[in-house]
Amino acid sequence: MRRRAKPGEHVKQFLHRGVLLAALLASGAGLAEERLPAFGVVADIQYGDKAGGDGRDYRGSLGRLERGVETLRAQPLDFVIQLGDVIDGQPTNAAATAQDLDAVLSVFNRLSVPKYHVVGNHCLNAGTNALLQKLGLERAYYAFAVPRAAGWRFVVLDGNDAGYGVVSEPQLAWFRQTLDQAQQAGEKVICFCHFALLQAAAEHDRMAQPEALLKLLDEHPCAVAWIAGHDHAGGYALRRQVHHLTLRGLVEAPTNGTAFARIELAGDRLLERGYGSEPSREMVLGAEPSMRRLSFENGRVWPDNHGVHINAHGGGLLFRDGVYYWYGEHKVEGKAGNVAHVGVHAYSSRDLYNWKDEGIALRVSDDPASDIAKECVLERPKVIYNAKTGKYVMWFHLEYKGKGYGAARSGVAVADGPTGPFAYLRSERPDAGAWPVGASDEQKAALQTVGEMKGLTFSGGPNPDTPKHSILARDFAGGQMARDMTLFVDDDGQAYHIFSSEENSTLHISQLTDDYLSHAGKYVRVFEHQWNEAPAICKRQGRYWMITSGCTGWAPNAARAAVAPSIWGPWKELGNPCLGVNPMNRLGAEKTYGGQSTYLLPVQGRKDAFIAMFDLWRPDNAIDGRYVWLPLHFEGEGFTVTWRDTWDLGAFDAAAP
Ligand code: GAL
Repeated sequence: MRRRAKPGEHVKQFLHRGVLLAALLASGAGLAEERLPAFGVVADIQYGDKAGGDGRDYRGSLGRLERGVETLRAQPLDFVIQLGDVIDGQPTNAAATAQDLDAVLSVFNRLSVPKYHVVGNHCLNAGTNALLQKLGLERAYYAFAVPRAAGWRFVVLDGNDAGYGVVSEPQLAWFRQTLDQAQQAGEKVICFCHFALLQAAAEHDRMAQPEALLKLLDEHPCAVAWIAGHDHAGGYALRRQVHHLTLRGLVEAPTNGTAFARIELAGDRLLERGYGSEPSREMVLGAEPSMRRLSFENGRVWPDNHGVHINAHGGGLLFRDGVYYWYGEHKVEGKAGNVAHVGVHAYSSRDLYNWKDEGIALRVSDDPASDIAKECVLERPKVIYNAKTGKYVMWFHLEYKGKGYGAARSGVAVADGPTGPFAYLRSERPDAGAWPVGASDEQKAALQTVGEMKGLTFSGGPNPDTPKHSILARDFAGGQMARDMTLFVDDDGQAYHIFSSEENSTLHISQLTDDYLSHAGKYVRVFEHQWNEAPAICKRQGRYWMITSGCTGWAPNAARAAVAPSIWGPWKELGNPCLGVNPMNRLGAEKTYGGQSTYLLPVQGRKDAFIAMFDLWRPDNAIDGRYVWLPLHFEGEGFTVTWRDTWDLGAFDAAAP
């Protein structure tokens, strides 16, 4: 009997086997049949020798399939299955449809392992009989087993035999009987169907009448997975003992990309290794089923341990004792969510993919007289740990309730533990009465003329009038404005507060006191009158790297990068580091994929590995803001950030971006 593996052990073995396999292949040695059973799976190839549109690239699907087939051919597999819609069909041209089917099958058939097919809806354009014949099927629903996967039964359902997304009574009866037999035989059953059953697993489209099928799954604990396609966005949900997995559609994978998976049957769990856009997951089977993400899914809903989308916007991370803590703005629904109704939300994770809700770390106050009264603006919270005092210190951008963005203050709170509760200490305008490092006589002399600025107002965006005045001198006595911000702790334990100041026109980098609770009065001005927001900083190989945005409120703009030999500068501009396009909103580097930077995260245990974190704001429904995390790729004097739908930390092992 196979012993029960410890959590994570299979994943380690899984990754290790990949390395072993690569070594074996490279050496040309034969494969020891020590491996676990596994199959390849691809959904919605939807090939068609015709123009695409609306995100669907019918013609390009052949190339994407070719890449997938090549990868799968290099893997030990027991079978490969396609989940329907192998072609899109050309309704007015039966001959062209037949040709499309032949072309796509000729690529698919390069696989030497047994191949199985699911019937979808588009592929029926080839004619049911012709399709079944070419797929080598007598009937569109059937069951099969494979020799190396003893104890597993695979069931293919036809989602259309009583109409679009409807299963016939005879098929249901057959399905019941098949499940009964598997249950009696003590087998585990994986079901394949073109259509998903649950909205939670396929947001946009799924089986029209799922109830009877769900009831059968409920009645048969032997059923462990329902694997589907059709909804090209893909998805996942756990319902009772069944993992509902919807694969992303190959037809909508990015150009030159792909989307398919290898699923390993690891005894008490299924290990999905996604390729291209398809995510990777570990799905634990049995009485206490669970799913663990093994990849980042940019722009998607990121469920926490309760299945709720992570609510930590404009966030930052802290690593302490093997755990990452993520702090961010807790938003509520609608436009109302653009001000703080709740406070700062904290989450924890050991792997960066799976996050546990740690509750509200700093709560806004019910007292309307408090600085942090409910409905104040409390943005971009960041937390750092002070080794000298043993305290966790949070700074954030604060605007008083109902006063717009005029106050431009920094709030500070402190806690004894990483998840709080944080006690609010005070807010301030930083560096009152202090001149920046190297301030010129001219800058200081501007103090004499600040009276002339009385009554003048400045917008927070690029504004030709701002440089005509010295905002620095205007705010000398009362403290400098501080809006978008981040914190950075250097190797020597010195901490810095980096914020958009002087009506957003100029960044300030300001040293904190040893206890991190105040500003030390030493600061520099960076990128004068260049309107930077959303600053994020990291340190690599003795140099300081920065990413910022321009100032266009919630609307996205192009990111900017910079590097410096010292935190104090000189800071050298590197231009826009972003490459690639977010296929979900079709926004590329010119709009930072629809996002705005918030943090640069050093990945623990990996040399030179940093993640750029961005927010995709949704100001009309703030709670639905999404997250985009991408690896930094350092090259010579600069770095790039390339869009990826889905990726994992293994990306840092590869040389290329
Ligand atoms: C953005 C800023 C956000 C928020 C927003 C309000 O530019 O980065 O943190 O302040 O403006 O419009």
